[in-house]
Amino acid sequence: MAKAPQPPTPKPAPTPVAVPTPDRRVLLIVGGGVAAYKALELTRLLRKAGVGVRPLLTKAGAQFVTPLSLSSLAEDKVYTDLFSLTDEAEMGHIQLSRSADLVVVVPATADLMAKAAHGLANDLASTTLLATDKPVLMAPAMNVRMWLHPATQRNVATLKADGVHIVGPDDGAMACGEFGPGRMAEPAAIFDAIMGLLAGEASRPLAGKHVIVTAGPTAEPLDPVRVLTNRSSGKQGFAIAGALARLGARVTLVAGPVNLPTPFGVDRVDVETAVEMLTICQGALPADAAVCVAAVADWRPDEAFGVKLKKGREGPPTLRLVENPDILATLSASGPRRPTLVVGFAAETNDVIANARAKLARKGCDLIVANDVSEAGVMGGDDNTVVIVSKRGVDKWERAPKAEVAARLARGIAESLQ
Ligand code: CTP
Repeated sequence: MAKAPQPPTPKPAPTPVAVPTPDRRVLLIVGGGVAAYKALELTRLLRKAGVGVRPLLTKAGAQFVTPLSLSSLAEDKVYTDLFSLTDEAEMGHIQLSRSADLVVVVPATADLMAKAAHGLANDLASTTLLATDKPVLMAPAMNVRMWLHPATQRNVATLKADGVHIVGPDDGAMACGEFGPGRMAEPAAIFDAIMGLLAGEASRPLAGKHVIVTAGPTAEPLDPVRVLTNRSSGKQGFAIAGALARLGARVTLVAGPVNLPTPFGVDRVDVETAVEMLTICQGALPADAAVCVAAVADWRPDEAFGVKLKKGREGPPTLRLVENPDILATLSASGPRRPTLVVGFAAETNDVIANARAKLARKGCDLIVANDVSEAGVMGGDDNTVVIVSKRGVDKWERAPKAEVAARLARGIAESLQ
């Protein structure tokens, strides 16, 4: 008898591919501001680094980016509603607020910051910020007047006192057409801040140490509108300040006039002249280390005129210059208040090592980081080639991005302070 046709044997179910669970996760609150689009790029950077992103989009945020964009990049569901029955069934808002290692608010609008500062909880984002027991990082973004308003500044001070970490805002042109502080930090800077916070204490060998960093040029006034200055961009000094802060140091960055955002976690004091730079550095002592990267003007006009110099019949004025104080040499010779480690920089075009050795002895510092500025693209560029010269010897580093030079130097400083 013919056999009844058998149903086809079902194919074995494919073995489920284990999706690796990220061991670090951030809860990303996206607020309602034009800068919300940068939250997408930040999400991409975090996912690329293997960090899990659980997005929470406010109603106002959804006016600027769509839940679909956010969830596609985050590879996770987007939470939006405090009173969503399904969300509450799957994950209550209290659990959501604790489901990550870090809560990040990008952009942190004036409204979100005000709510968080005052403990309001009338939507999912503010409730989450009140309920969380995890560290919080905010990246403020708002119009310059809103940022400078005393109410916002009060709220920022309250949030900082509550232990909230703040990255930015930067100075710059804004979507509203105005210019000034209030523009959100770039995604790369927020990413660095997040990675630093996620890394935790083990990666903070400089915790409890204070480091003074000088950076940028100085500008020496001739009259109210004219200055003597130089082309230093400040990039290397700012990168070093940021790298030291990432290793846990309390960093006082004394900066000449540059147009650079303050690295995350760094206390910045802006100055104009060499004399001001020295005063601030001395006032910032005691310190465990000082890193003098600034291109300090060697001389300043003997007299700064109170009114603008006019073209006259006598022809061009003759400038009389006087020598500026040497900040590196002064800090190296500050007796009992001398930092344990004093690092100087030297921009050289020739005989790099011999000149650096001579400078080490002349300035009385412990280390000279000499860079060969005869190489194309070093001055103002993003790369640097440096030689480390100390009493112990000479170490030539390969050409590398300034951020890498900064990170390596910061690690070296941490080692020698231990
Ligand atoms: N420096 C300083 N204060 C000054 C001049 C320089 O702190 N008034 C510091 C710089 O920050 C840098 C180091 O000294 O760390 C080397 O600066 P540089 O200008 O190269 O050294 P000079 O002593 O001016 O030597 P020269 O210009 O002859 O090369």
